[in-house]
Amino acid sequence: MKRYVAPSLLAADFGNLREDILMVNNSEADYFHCDIMDGVFVPNLSFGFPVLEHIKKYAEKPLDVHLMTIEPEKYIRRYKKAGADILTVHLEACDHLHRVVQEIKSEGMMAGVSLNPHTSVRLLENILAHVDMILIMSVNPGYGGQTFIEHSYSKIATLREMCDNVNPGILIEVDGGVDLSNAGRLYETGVNILVAGTAVFKANDPVKMISDLKKA
Ligand code: DX5
Ligand code: ZN
Repeated sequence: MKRYVAPSLLAADFGNLREDILMVNNSEADYFHCDIMDGVFVPNLSFGFPVLEHIKKYAEKPLDVHLMTIEPEKYIRRYKKAGADILTVHLEACDHLHRVVQEIKSEGMMAGVSLNPHTSVRLLENILAHVDMILIMSVNPGYGGQTFIEHSYSKIATLREMCDNVNPGILIEVDGGVDLSNAGRLYETGVNILVAGTAVFKANDPVKMISDLKKA
């Protein structure tokens, strides 16, 4: 199975964002993970369209945009315009998830669905066939630098089994508390994309850390 790494820019130095983007360009990373928080769905605010557009300007890899917002359907076209390649919404934030997924795809983006730690992967049964990616949150969303929640492994294993039947090509991404201590087991459990914020940007050598995570 292919292994991908998506550094989360939430942990980057926002005063020198361009430098950090160039570092990711010159590394083995596969995506830029961009966390959008609205202060309502999660108890924090991050950044919005103007910053996303600047990231797009310098990024030489696809933008993996993770929306931690209510009513994500309001801005789908604007995220596309700002440069999103993958757009992920939370299942908990969508009354009409199937429609939202269709709209994301009709704008030419890959569609992802994310689950909070308490949400069962069984709830994905009727959407799995329609999405490109599932993002399993392995911390409660809102902040970087939190501790990985151990029950994420069993969720990922169950999800991978469910996907094998319905949509084997789906990408499974895990986000929160990912570092070298859990990366190998996560890949073995069925993850394709590791998101890593603190582990990458607080490392002494972020380029090496990205490479080590891929080989974990
Ligand atoms: C948390 C965000 C994550 C966060 C991960 O709500 O979705 O992408 O940046 O940060 P680390 O890797 O530090 O847990
Ligand atoms: Zn994220």
